[in-house]
Order: sequence, then C-alpha cells, then structure tokens
Amino acid sequence: MSGTEVAAGTETVDFGGLQISFDARVLRPRDWTTAQSWWAAALLRDLPAGDVLELCSGAGQIGLLAVADSARRLVCVDVSPVAASYTLHNAEAAGCIDRVSIRTGLISEVLPRGEQFPLIIADPPWVRRSETVRFPEDPLLAIDGGDGGMDVVHECLRAISGHLAPGGVALLQLGTQEQAEAVAALLGGSGLVAGELREYGDRGVLLRIDHA
Ligand SMILES: C[S@@+](CC[C@H](N)C(=O)[O-])C[C@H]1O[C@@H](n2cnc3c(N)ncnc32)[C@H](O)[C@@H]1O
Repeated sequence: MSGTEVAAGTETVDFGGLQISFDARVLRPRDWTTAQSWWAAALLRDLPAGDVLELCSGAGQIGLLAVADSARRLVCVDVSPVAASYTLHNAEAAGCIDRVSIRTGLISEVLPRGEQFPLIIADPPWVRRSETVRFPEDPLLAIDGGDGGMDVVHECLRAISGHLAPGGVALLQLGTQEQAEAVAALLGGSGLVAGELREYGDRGVLLRIDHA
C-alpha cells in the first residue's frame, strides 16, 4: 500500500481531530491515548529544537497529533511494514507528510549511534505472552511483550537512554502502575529518572522520563 492507496478492510476514525486509517493488522487507535499526544504537544513548546522520535508508532496517530500544531519533524519507528504504510497514509491525510519520516524495523536496529531527540514518545507492547489470549481482536505483534510483558519496554528504555538529548523528555506508555514502578526501579543509576505518572484507569498509564 502506498501513502495514497487504501487497503481492503481499512477503517478511518477521528483521533483528536485527525483522520486516522488502519486495518485489523494494526492496533485500533485508542481514544484515551490522545492524552499522550496532548502531553507531548504541551512539552514541545519548551523543549530544545529538534525532531520528535516515536517508538512503536503503529498507524502513527499519537506522534502525528503531538506535532500537528508545531513545525517539528516526526521520526516514526515500527517493525510492521503495514503500520508504516498507514503512518504514511495518515501523515498525508494530516497534511504533514513532508515533516514525517518512517523507519521500518526493530528499535534496536534503526537508530544510528549519536542521533538525539528532545522528545521521545514510546508505546511498546506490554501484555505478558501468556495473557495475550485475553485480547483476541488485537494483532499479536502489537501487544505481545514477551514472557514478563516487558521485553519491548526494555528495548524502548535502551533507546531512550541512548537517544534522549540533554534537557529532553520521554513519555512512555505502559499498562499498569506496577509496570511504571518496575521501570522507575530499573532506571536507578542509569542517568535517567522517572517523573510524573498519569493514570487512566484500567486503560493504561503514561510515565515521564527525564535525565537525572
Ligand atoms: C501497543 S502497539 C502501539 C501502536 C500505536 N502507537 C497505537 O497506539 O496504536 C505497539 C507497536 O509496536 C510495534 N513493535 C513491536 N515490537 C517492536 C520492536 N521490537 N521494534 C519496533 N516496533 C515494535 C508493533 O508493530 C506495534 O505497532
């Protein structure tokens, strides 16, 4: 699928005013996650110059909404080529295709050493592999966080550690407060520190991460 073509089975939903297309091979946009975009957009007003990095971008809606009212460029990373195609399509629909680049591959493979971003948004899979059966409508790749649920979270933390610019902020989406506490404990001594936690009932949490 190119940026302008639409695959059979495509649906389009409103996401904070953006028209976002996707199909069953990609996670359905969740309305509450506009909170991650709005938080990011507010932070962007005061962060140093530079591009926004979105890890585990899916159809791209969280990052696209975050940069919509700024002139920032957005770099989306997702291992799924289908997700990448929809990000392209959605960036075109949002009128900001010239500010969006997409890297299709594993987080660990597509970020050159030394590349830095003042804002990193991350939305990794966080469901324990044994519990993914509870979400039959969701693509496995989008929700399977490995045996403990934290495999891709760890990959995101490594990327944040290696690519967050001085004075920058990362916003990490997780499933539960317990996972956020586990991340905060992991960061001890890493040069990064967990900050404000915003909770959205049983839908998920957002954790701010700064340089220590
Ligand atoms: C929870 S979904 C989030 C998608 C999107 N942000 C959303 O809200 O709909 C996680 C995404 O991470 C991608 N993914 C899983 N493992 C990955 C990895 N190791 N590197 C890059 N992307 C990965 C999946 O393809 C999926 O699109």
